[in-house]
This record gives sequence, C-alpha cells and structure tokens, in this order.
Amino acid sequence: MSISRRCVLTLAGGLLLAATAGVQAADKKITLGFAQVGAESEWRTANTQSIKQSAKDAGITLKFSDAQQKQENQIKAIRSYIAQKVDVIAFSPVVESGWETVLQEAKAAKIPVILTDRAVSVKDDSLYVTFIGSDFVEEGRRAGKWLLDNYKGQGDVNIVELQGTVGSAPAIDRKNGFEEVIKAQPRFKIIRSQTGDFTRAKGKEVMEAFLKAEGKKINVLYAHNDDMAIGAIQAIEEAGLKPGKDIIIISIDAVKGAFEAMIAGKLNVTVECNPQLGPQLMEAAKAVVAGKQLPKRIVTKEGVFPMEVAAKEFPNRKY
Ligand code: AHR
Repeated sequence: MSISRRCVLTLAGGLLLAATAGVQAADKKITLGFAQVGAESEWRTANTQSIKQSAKDAGITLKFSDAQQKQENQIKAIRSYIAQKVDVIAFSPVVESGWETVLQEAKAAKIPVILTDRAVSVKDDSLYVTFIGSDFVEEGRRAGKWLLDNYKGQGDVNIVELQGTVGSAPAIDRKNGFEEVIKAQPRFKIIRSQTGDFTRAKGKEVMEAFLKAEGKKINVLYAHNDDMAIGAIQAIEEAGLKPGKDIIIISIDAVKGAFEAMIAGKLNVTVECNPQLGPQLMEAAKAVVAGKQLPKRIVTKEGVFPMEVAAKEFPNRKY
C-alpha cells in the first residue's frame, strides 16, 4: 500500500474513532455526586428540590447527601463519590476554608468539581471547574443601600446583626457588603452581631439575647437570611414590640415565608438570593463531561423586594 493511501486510511480511522467517542460522550448517562450543606432553611429546601428535579429532567443520575451543616460530613461524601468514580462532583461548601486536600484528591482521580451556591477559598483555582451562584457581597450591599435610602428616623441608628454560619461565604460576604455601604453614614452603627447559624430557632434565641441586652435601643435588625429574621420576629413580638415598625427588619433570600411576613407588615424588605440553581448545574455538568470550556464564575440574577410590593409579587414566587 502506498504511503499516501495508508495516511488517508489512518486519518479516516482516526476521524471515525473521534466521531464514535463524540457520540459516546453525548449518549453517556452522567452520574453526578452532590454534597448538600443540610436542611437549615426554607432556602436550602428549595435549593435541594431544584437540584433533584433538574437532575431528573436532564436524565442525570444523582447521588445526593445531606451534610447536616458539618464540613467533615461533606468531605466524607465527596470522598465516597471519588471512590464510586462518579462523572462529576458538585457541592455547596458549608464553610469557605479547608477544602484543598479533598479537592486535590478529586483532581487526581480526574473528576471535575463544580461549586454551587457557596465559594471555597483555595490558592489553586484549577481545583474546581466553575462556581455557579449569587454574589453575596452584592446582596449585603443591596441590604445596606435599602437601609440608607429608606430609614426615616433622625439621629443614631442602632443595628443588630444576625450572621449566618460562622466561616461560610454568605455570612462573610453579606457582612462585608452591608458594612461597606453603611459606613458612608456613620450614624448607622452595628451595636451587636452574632451568628444565628441560618436557622429560625437560633435566630429567635440570639434576638432574645439582643433584646435583653439592648431593649428599645435597637432600631434595625439585619439578618443574613429570612429564616433567622422570622425567628427574630417571634422574639420581638414576645418582647412586646412591633416587628417592622418598632424595629425595622432587613433580610436576605426572598423565600415565601418572608413574603408572608412582609404582607403581615412584620418584615420591611428582603434581598433576593435565588436557590433554583439546579438547571444551571445540570447544564454545566453536561458541558464539562462533553469537554467544553466553562466560565469560572456564573452569577445568578436577583432583585430586592420591599414590603410595599410583597402582596403583588407573592403569587409569582416559586420558592
Ligand atoms: O448559601 C445560601 C444561604 O444558605 C441562604 O441565604 C441561607 O438561607 C442558606 O441556609
């Protein structure tokens, strides 16, 4: 056989192999291992539903684990996904730091990792493919801006802050974004700040302590999520005060429970944080398995809902 004929055959064979591989990649049933934070809030429940439903819709086999807000449980789940040789691993990290080792293990096993909702703080950003989620700093800024634009009273404004889970990206970023904006007007002061771990029960408990210590001095509550705000509303009412009037309440998430509280006049504003990340995650998982390049950051679009628009918006809310 002539050299040129052999070259053509080899090339044709190569193309056939490449085409077959392409068809196999497109047809391959993807298995995705997802390590969820927990079930700490209404937001998280909606996020879990979105991931489960979107995996079904996309024909992706989902292995799902709930870490009960513990980093060690998430690390265990990721290691088990590596051992099971899933095609893609995704997770919402409970906290920002401490992920290097397990992410290196995933990289060594050649399993791509997608972050959803929360970021990790790692030196080597090749340890994950992309991060899909909200801009938490911007959410904090929006909360601060709403306060500066809408607060009616004169003189010093005493703010108490219910922070999210210690060390988590939303707690760190929402605090920073809010402080960045309110420092423009020094009369706005955070007089107490403590974690309520993103739960209603803790939000109530910490608000009770704030009220005990500061009483009627408190003008504003800034809660890093709606669940803590809803817990705090109960504490405020039990203390004989009117939430939304005696104490202005700002929170983040925009879940249905927050809209109900706004319609009842007990919550002044909620900044949206969209939990419906499932469809984007499934698209990204398919793209990464198909060998496509993804942007390092995919930011979710969100709005701000003050109580005045709550009744009109409520029927449109999906979570
Ligand atoms: O990471 C997103 C945050 O986690 C939501 O604001 C909060 O409700 C949740 O638990």
